[in-house]
Amino acid sequence: MKLLLVGGGGREHALAHKLSQSAALERIYVAPGNGGTANLPKCENVGLEAEQFEELIAFARQHAIDLTVVGPETPLVDGIVDAFQAADLRIFGPSRRAAQLEGSKEFAKECMLRWGVPTGRAESFTDFDEAMRHLRMLDRVPVIKASGLAAGRGTLLPNTMEAAAVAVHELLVDRRFGDAGTTVLVEQRLRGPEVSVLAFCDGQRCLLMPAAQDYKRLNDGDRGPNTAGLGAFAPSPLLTPEQLAEIQHKIFAPVLAGLAAEGAPYRGVLYAGLMLTEKGPAVLEFNCRFGDPEAQAILPLLESDLLEVLLACTAGTLETVTPRWRAAAAVSVVMASEGYPETCRTGIEIFGVAAAEQTGCTVDQAGTRQKGGRLLVAGGRVLTVTATARSVEQAARRAYAGVEKIRFAGAHYRTDIGRALPARASRTPERAARGKRSETRPPPRLAGKYPAPRKPTRPHRPAQETP
Ligand code: GLY
Repeated sequence: MKLLLVGGGGREHALAHKLSQSAALERIYVAPGNGGTANLPKCENVGLEAEQFEELIAFARQHAIDLTVVGPETPLVDGIVDAFQAADLRIFGPSRRAAQLEGSKEFAKECMLRWGVPTGRAESFTDFDEAMRHLRMLDRVPVIKASGLAAGRGTLLPNTMEAAAVAVHELLVDRRFGDAGTTVLVEQRLRGPEVSVLAFCDGQRCLLMPAAQDYKRLNDGDRGPNTAGLGAFAPSPLLTPEQLAEIQHKIFAPVLAGLAAEGAPYRGVLYAGLMLTEKGPAVLEFNCRFGDPEAQAILPLLESDLLEVLLACTAGTLETVTPRWRAAAAVSVVMASEGYPETCRTGIEIFGVAAAEQTGCTVDQAGTRQKGGRLLVAGGRVLTVTATARSVEQAARRAYAGVEKIRFAGAHYRTDIGRALPARASRTPERAARGKRSETRPPPRLAGKYPAPRKPTRPHRPAQETP
């Protein structure tokens, strides 16, 4: 089979890597791809951007592409799936309407309230004065969210009502996120640890993947500004198989049934960002695609053929596949360029990728490009180093051993990915899968998003700033 993969980040490199293992695969074209996908066997970069729908459709026709797979949210929200289907081409991902679950937080919130999916209460506003009147009636500081796509940075967590008012002003009046913030949600702030649950969906049914933990803040201990994600690990120790079944029943099933009933069946990956509150899991947000870097951590755990699963999603026959997952854990550490997330310093040479791979790690490239045989920094999140092992702790040790081999000037990464864990998380995934943990809630000593980092058994040295 010939595939066209749309996107150019670490997630797409991980997808290309996993798809290239399929026996049925002949070739993957990646549009636009990156310095890593350029070098993958059976893989070839194509000089087309994700928003060039007409050119992508022409390419798919010209090269007799059997399946197009879309990585990022923007083309999905903009209707790439509808455009390909109108051209009679097979594509993996939700339609424009279904992708509004991510494209419009207002739409997602209305859907959840309509279908009884647990989530925080929220009101949406386009007018600053109305939003202020609402804020004055609240007795707890809310979360302020831009309704549209804001590259993962549209959720603001003010500590005071005054800061909440400033946040609303920044979005509605200053247009900090442009059109993404013309509608603002003022949302009840939920408490508890967060977890990401992703599912393959075929319009009617879904199959959950191992739950993952995502690290969004820039610095260790969850400090610093929000980023698009600087690390992940899977499986999360915070959910038992019973809780995952409950999440499937109370969250994924009503969303799939609701969208199907409204004529927008959801086919693709649905990602639920959840908070484990005292009353049970509640949805913080939906994404309409694989997470980045969650994909880098989850996909290496998939033993089965990913291509078969994606094809079953597009055909509406998910009941015919049973994905097998390795009884292992994976930790993914993102290395970012200097200045990220505000700016990024590009054009700097990257050393040591092959050495990191020789340690057994997978390096998924993102903000990189090849020039004259050299690998250069070309974006904010530069690459992700992933390792698998029997436990999260062991996988983290291996991932950081890989990270230490990679050098580029100004490299930044967190040193606590897969390490800032509750004590119970050090259990092997086999034990977790057997459901040894009886609590239905996270241990009480969990404070905030994650507990205080455990001291690493071996102190970790950040990479040298200059190669
Ligand atoms: N890692 C969060 C996201 O992909 O949106």
